Amino acid sequence: MKDLTPDKASLDPIEIASRDEISALQLERLKWSLNHAYTNVPHYKKAFDAAGVHPDDLHSLSDLSKFPFTVKQDLRDNYPFGMFAVPREQVSRIHASSGTTGQPTVVGYTRNDLDVWGSVVARSLRASGLRPGDLLHNAYGYGLFTGGLGIHLGADKLGLSTVPISGGMTPRQVRLIEDFKPDGITVTPSYALSILDEFNAQGLDPRDCSMKVGIFGAEPWTNAMRREIEDAFDMHAVDIYGLSEIMGPGVANECVETKDGLHIWEDHFYPEVINPETGELVADGEQGELVFTSLTKEAFPIIRYRTRDLTRLLPGTARSMRRMEKITGRSDDMIILRGVNVFPTQIEECLMATAGLAPHFQIELTKPGRMDQLCVLAEVADASVLGDARDAAAKALSDRIKQIIGISVKVQVSDVGGVARSEGKAARIIDKR
Ligand code: DLL
Repeated sequence: MKDLTPDKASLDPIEIASRDEISALQLERLKWSLNHAYTNVPHYKKAFDAAGVHPDDLHSLSDLSKFPFTVKQDLRDNYPFGMFAVPREQVSRIHASSGTTGQPTVVGYTRNDLDVWGSVVARSLRASGLRPGDLLHNAYGYGLFTGGLGIHLGADKLGLSTVPISGGMTPRQVRLIEDFKPDGITVTPSYALSILDEFNAQGLDPRDCSMKVGIFGAEPWTNAMRREIEDAFDMHAVDIYGLSEIMGPGVANECVETKDGLHIWEDHFYPEVINPETGELVADGEQGELVFTSLTKEAFPIIRYRTRDLTRLLPGTARSMRRMEKITGRSDDMIILRGVNVFPTQIEECLMATAGLAPHFQIELTKPGRMDQLCVLAEVADASVLGDARDAAAKALSDRIKQIIGISVKVQVSDVGGVARSEGKAARIIDKR
């Protein structure tokens, strides 16, 4: 794989500023953001007043912990535009996440917010190894989802040539990759696997393709999956993180030269990690739930938003800004099986280490009697895995899960194509209980 380390001179100075400089900027911006939210969004005025805090009570960054959390329900209760801090006429763009419960979460951006969003995505794409003039195949969905249009903003800002292909129509994805010869691809890791299948189905060697880097996010994926994708396409695979409530893609990104977790663009998004049970802050380095406060957003300021994403904060390496470890999963996706906590990413790791199986999987939960049962739906790596070999692969996977995670599960191995494919975010859990 090619060395894609960006030139130091091309970075935003703040990316490599001292911690003191970063903290000073954060404090100044945090004061502004708390005031902006309190003055212009009735929800924040009510919530701060109820908690007995005022924006003037913030004297240091650690004072933020006195302020109340914001949760998804608050956004739902203020549907559609009640959390906006500027008149609707000043909102240039609206996005929404569908969510699983039906009621969408609506977010808005001023012109200036879009400009900031473009800058942090440009920074992310550069950290991933792309350069002005490179060609980008953007296969994140365009529409209310922030993935497609968010990446597009940053690609424009960095000076890339962008192919806005969006998700779906997989044979056409492969055709355009072959014909246009992109330098990079932005796509969910699960959809990247569908594209990989299509290369193979068309008799093309994905290792011969032009792509030097894939920038994967919008769902959890493991380092085992990284190795699989890097090897299959002979390209770098880096992690991009974000969520609509905070901005969209580009809240944090890995650096291609280190791939050691995602640097949070802390000049715009202030991170905290809390114990999800007690709401208490945990020290950097300890696992917990990620909480974000926006520092510069105008249309939709967000204070101490509980993301439900589980990770830990680590010191900066390739950049001065702190890193978050690859996300283990969302607290909502945690399965408690006979008392053991299990995340789909743990199943993914076991699956990737098992010979004879493809990287596609889903988890089916049933309750045949009084006990919950978990069945991993997997599929053979290729049509040559038949009979005894297929049974052996299934047994190897259930043995590994028992040994590593400590739970007894069933494994059902189907033919090639038996596991549902994703064109965006993968649905990992089918709950039939
Ligand atoms: O998924 C934004 C995005 C688009 C990020 C494209 C990266 C690339 P939402 O639809 O609001 O926004 O979903 C946000 O997706 O809270 C995480 O649970 C999950 N997620 C996003 N990126 C990652 C990642 C977009 N790199 C939710 N690793 C978040 C693990 C991720 N989970």
